[in-house]
Amino acid sequence: KQICELAYQGASTAVGLAEKLLTEAIEKHGAEAPVKYPDTAYKLPIVTALSGEDITTLGEIVPVLQRIKANNLRPEPELGNALLSGEATLYAGEIIEALRYVGNDQPDEAPYTGFLPDRILRKCGVPLVDGTIPGVAVITGKAKDAKAGAALVKDLQSKGILVMLVNDIIEQCIAENIKVGLDYLTLPLGKFTQIVHAVNFAARAGLAFGGVPKGERERMLEYQKNRVPAFVIALGELDAVTVAIGAGALFMGFPIVTDQALPPELQIPGLLEPQPDYDKIVKLALELRNIKLKIVDIPVPITVGPAFEGETIRKKEAWVEFGGGRSPGFELVRMADADHVEDGKIEVVGPEIDEMPEGSVFPLGIIVDIYGRKMQEDFEGVLERRIHYFINYGEGLWHVAQRDLCWLRISKGAKEAGFKIRHFGELLIAKFKSDYPAIVDRVQVTLITDAQVIDEKIKIAREKYQARDARLKGLTDESVDTFYSCTLCQSFAPNHVCIVSPERVGLCGAVSWLDAKASNEITPTGPNQPITKGECLDEAKGMWKNLNDFLYTSSNRTLEEVNLYTLMDKPMTSCGCFEAIMAVLPLTNGVMITTREHSGDTPCGMSFSTLAGTCGGGVQTPGFMGIGRRYVVSSKFIPADGGLGRIVWMPKELKEYLKDELAERAVQLGLGADFVDKIADETVGITEEEILPFLEERQHPALKMDPLM
Ligand code: SF4
Ligand code: NI
Ligand code: NI
Repeated sequence: KQICELAYQGASTAVGLAEKLLTEAIEKHGAEAPVKYPDTAYKLPIVTALSGEDITTLGEIVPVLQRIKANNLRPEPELGNALLSGEATLYAGEIIEALRYVGNDQPDEAPYTGFLPDRILRKCGVPLVDGTIPGVAVITGKAKDAKAGAALVKDLQSKGILVMLVNDIIEQCIAENIKVGLDYLTLPLGKFTQIVHAVNFAARAGLAFGGVPKGERERMLEYQKNRVPAFVIALGELDAVTVAIGAGALFMGFPIVTDQALPPELQIPGLLEPQPDYDKIVKLALELRNIKLKIVDIPVPITVGPAFEGETIRKKEAWVEFGGGRSPGFELVRMADADHVEDGKIEVVGPEIDEMPEGSVFPLGIIVDIYGRKMQEDFEGVLERRIHYFINYGEGLWHVAQRDLCWLRISKGAKEAGFKIRHFGELLIAKFKSDYPAIVDRVQVTLITDAQVIDEKIKIAREKYQARDARLKGLTDESVDTFYSCTLCQSFAPNHVCIVSPERVGLCGAVSWLDAKASNEITPTGPNQPITKGECLDEAKGMWKNLNDFLYTSSNRTLEEVNLYTLMDKPMTSCGCFEAIMAVLPLTNGVMITTREHSGDTPCGMSFSTLAGTCGGGVQTPGFMGIGRRYVVSSKFIPADGGLGRIVWMPKELKEYLKDELAERAVQLGLGADFVDKIADETVGITEEEILPFLEERQHPALKMDPLM
């Protein structure tokens, strides 16, 4: 009961404050003044999600706030009313925060992030659905002491949980040298009402991935409860406003653990529970949210978890570095016979780290020999690419590129913590065995730091790469009779199905046909199912009967037909985590592509995030489609619409990224090596009118093609 009263009080305070600030803002800027968060397609996401108003000006907020005040603030001490108070607090918080962005795109100073743009949400899409990020923790308040708070965050980091921090815990973490920022999956949102940025992030997951229409409050709440694995850890004293915000979390279905000793009458079993013992807080929170972790014990002296994947180690922070053109380096995964692999064996050929002086450069060869009854040669490349992630997960380890281009650093901190070259082996063995138990039975790792030996072994590796590339070249949509489905994203986008063919990577860019094949071998009942193509219904557009049947069933009967080779007619659906989006530009008779990395406007009149808002959630939207970056250079890139020659605009960033392959493809297609220079980018213009003269002047081939629409 007391909780209800507190929530009511806190909500009233929050709504009152929102009202006051709104009135002031209208006096100062006028009711017509625009209000928006930077880089989002969802206006004020909490409002968009729960009641559906498209707020674009200050004046439009007034009736929303009035309604909330009239409907949601009810003093009678009932749980239902407390939740309504919570909802009111979320609205108030969202409004207060949005006001800070009036006339200022960046009201927060580092390290505070404030509003999290859609780009971050989409980036987290795949790791969230595949369990690399098993959950989202929102920690608010002040820990009993900085050390205890830091330990809590560190524990969550090592478990791969996305952490959002609000209030004093941020300074506590920084004081304890906890690494924060997106690179560490640890986001210091800010203070007080900035906690709503965690909630509007979750709300956008429902809008962007879940395909929940705006304003459908009940469906949104159901989505949050069932699909968003978020929980709150509230540290320190609970005042009325904190309780009201907590009620907001409960309203969204996020359970709360507090370090305060709550008397039983203040607890809500399963939703609001106390745990004063800091060592047990995370465990309880995970239980309440029903998050199960794969526990892997890796015998290395550094923390290992996806939180450290994005960590960069600059040259001056490195104890030693390998490869990257400065010394020979390579990595190779080989399939081997049972009697050639001694499980768990690690051999270091050449000097250990103790013999490497500070700031030195050494060669490094990493050979991973794998035996597995179900291992196939085709999986070597798939597994080899994992090396990059596994090593990067290590705190103080840095890895870029792959094969004989790989480049690694070990930080001074890791060296101090006792990290040895042989620990690369421990790390890889543990991760390969835990992540791929179905295809990996035995693993042995050889690490070569000797300059003579590496020269001889790198030749073996290069032969392997060549053989693999040759095989990959022969893998075309025609050469196989089976494609794979990917429904991994259904945990967020319940009706979305990707169809992955040898020449079309999943739109997240992370799942190729070989990946899907390997993953099916690993988990036969998992998200990647083989589909025999069966009867071809339309060769040009790429429609097969069996694919349609599969799609119908696994899209929960929302989609009947799909074409693989066109953008214009029953194209593949999008979930939300696409790397890039294509859109038709009618005036130019071509298509444009923009990427998650490019935040600017584009000739279709929308930025990436706005565009993304129009084509997610597992529905077909002819003329728009989410794609993986590499699909652009595939020979099955929208062949029914004219292929590569249709592209009239892409950001410079993507041009740069695909440079050589674009030129190569253009030559193959007879478009000429200079075709890339005929594609406009943001330096040419960001409207159709601006780029048209450029295309005409350069005689872009799309201008002469059949009309697209
Ligand atoms: Fe999601 Fe498609 Fe990528 Fe699978 S291939 S993870 S369904 S985007
Ligand atoms: Ni790292
Ligand atoms: Ni997805």
